[in-house]
Amino acid sequence: MDIKKLLQHNQLWAAKELAKDPDFFSDLSQQQKPKYLWIGCSDSRVPANQIIGLKPGEIFVHRNVANQVIHTDFNCLSVIQYAVEMLKVEHIIVCGHYGCGGVIVSHGEHTLGLIDNWLRHIRDMMRLKAPWLKRQRDAGHDSIDTLCELNVMRQVANVGQTTILHEAWARGQNIQVHGWIYGIQTGIIKDLQVDIASLADLEILEQRFMDL
Ligand code: CO
Repeated sequence: MDIKKLLQHNQLWAAKELAKDPDFFSDLSQQQKPKYLWIGCSDSRVPANQIIGLKPGEIFVHRNVANQVIHTDFNCLSVIQYAVEMLKVEHIIVCGHYGCGGVIVSHGEHTLGLIDNWLRHIRDMMRLKAPWLKRQRDAGHDSIDTLCELNVMRQVANVGQTTILHEAWARGQNIQVHGWIYGIQTGIIKDLQVDIASLADLEILEQRFMDL
């Protein structure tokens, strides 16, 4: 597609939104008040707003390869801090997806260069949970799917372990973290039931992870 087409699409889209609501952009320009923060994969097939039917202004979004929450990643941490402390979002959604390229690469043998460093945490987790992953495989579960789900669970715990969430919960801020996974083949999101809303919940989730 000609790159100029994208700008034409933009004009059509803006005109359509204005036709529906003449104040749409002027209202949005005043401020953003999203209730949700989305931490998802960069994969082009998993666009946050579209798959959960939200409009501009309704969800704050951070995406990276394989939806990682890494404690030295100031990009992700800054997004979380801004969302929690300034926007006061009530929900943080970590949404992975089946068939995630980052997870597939981590699961395999070959290397891709620089990005292997980014994905190192998934490989480490695989090694740590190798016996459990083997039991899942023996029980008939797809290895990649299982690892995609485990990755979401781990990243939910990682969000909870940030100083930002520790402090927010300590001062009594109402904020929940959820773990979802999106099926590229179905368009449907599955709730992995790993929600946490307090330090106590986080401890329980960490114990669940440890016990796997
Ligand atoms: Co992905």
